[in-house]
Amino acid sequence: AFTPRVFSGIKPSGDLHLGNYLGAIRRFVPLQQTHECIYCVVDMHAITVWQEPEDLRRWTYEIAAAYIASGLDPKRSIIFNQSQVVEHAELSWIFNCVARMGWMARMTQFKDKAAEAGGENSEAISLGLFAYPSLMAADILLYKATGVPVGEDQKQHLELTRDIAKKFNHDFKKQIKAAGHEPEFFPLTEPMITGPAMRVKSLKDGTRKMSKSDASDLSTIYMLDDAALIAKKIKRATTDPAPLPETAEGLAGRPEAENLVGIYAALSGRSVDEVLSEFGGKGWGVFKPALSDLAVSVLGPIADEMRRLLADRAEMDAILRDGAERARAIAAPVMKDVRDIVGF
Ligand code: ADP
Ligand code: NA
Repeated sequence: AFTPRVFSGIKPSGDLHLGNYLGAIRRFVPLQQTHECIYCVVDMHAITVWQEPEDLRRWTYEIAAAYIASGLDPKRSIIFNQSQVVEHAELSWIFNCVARMGWMARMTQFKDKAAEAGGENSEAISLGLFAYPSLMAADILLYKATGVPVGEDQKQHLELTRDIAKKFNHDFKKQIKAAGHEPEFFPLTEPMITGPAMRVKSLKDGTRKMSKSDASDLSTIYMLDDAALIAKKIKRATTDPAPLPETAEGLAGRPEAENLVGIYAALSGRSVDEVLSEFGGKGWGVFKPALSDLAVSVLGPIADEMRRLLADRAEMDAILRDGAERARAIAAPVMKDVRDIVGF
């Protein structure tokens, strides 16, 4: 039987936080039951903006540890580090020559990140940041992945991946046919939106996305925070003075409340209305300690297992080496076909 294959990754560009866990890592776990899963630490994407090499290496191990500690089984899923499978770089170069400048220039994430990095000053923006979606297309198409579990923010990049696949299939139609491949040499990968797209916001204002790059310390819950620090951050989280509403509609116009209740719902696997049927009418003095206990009960054991793994460099290296070998076993034959198709 045909098992669909999924590819996803996280950039080692900062400490992992609750948003990465609820919005990405935790959603990867159940896909292992139904799909062949490839989960990557995308270090080549991370360096599109400056990374201190020591930090890059530390965060690379941290993501691999978080994957495993959260329930990704390295025997079942392929867990590896992007830079260790050189075919990603090789295919992305070919895609750089298939994709058009205008396609990249239209990417809203590029426009946002470029504005962050240097505004109108293109001297401050790496060429890699511009070409990022081409590397992302290579990540996915190297494994001929049929689905990618992505958030709303990545849908435009995935459309571009499909555009690149289509143009490659079209430009090299004759060679693809001559070599006896299916005309759809690269598949047109679909986004997989697994459940409602959870967006965890900053604990300070409830509107900005919780982010690795957030400098304001207490606004972000990191996966490696200990119980006391998680409790402190939740206690200090900004809220309005009104008690919790009885239903989800009552959260409208109350972004901080909506964020905290949403986090509770996501961590407990309950709906927002279910959470409010328990806490509606109660004050933050009741809700915040309950949220802290819940967050600690979910994140605590994962953090403990991450720390255990991170203390064992040899084990981590063995897992990543094995993952890279299994990834290359899929990628190398695809790349061999591609080289042949383009005339290398
Ligand atoms: P970051 O934005 O923290 O730098 P990445 O861009 O590496 O993280 O994204 C890694 C994954 O984590 C992506 O699937 C992204 O959608 C998810 N993610 C990041 N921040 C959040 C958030 N605040 N809420 C939900 N999901 C998030
Ligand atoms: Na980011």
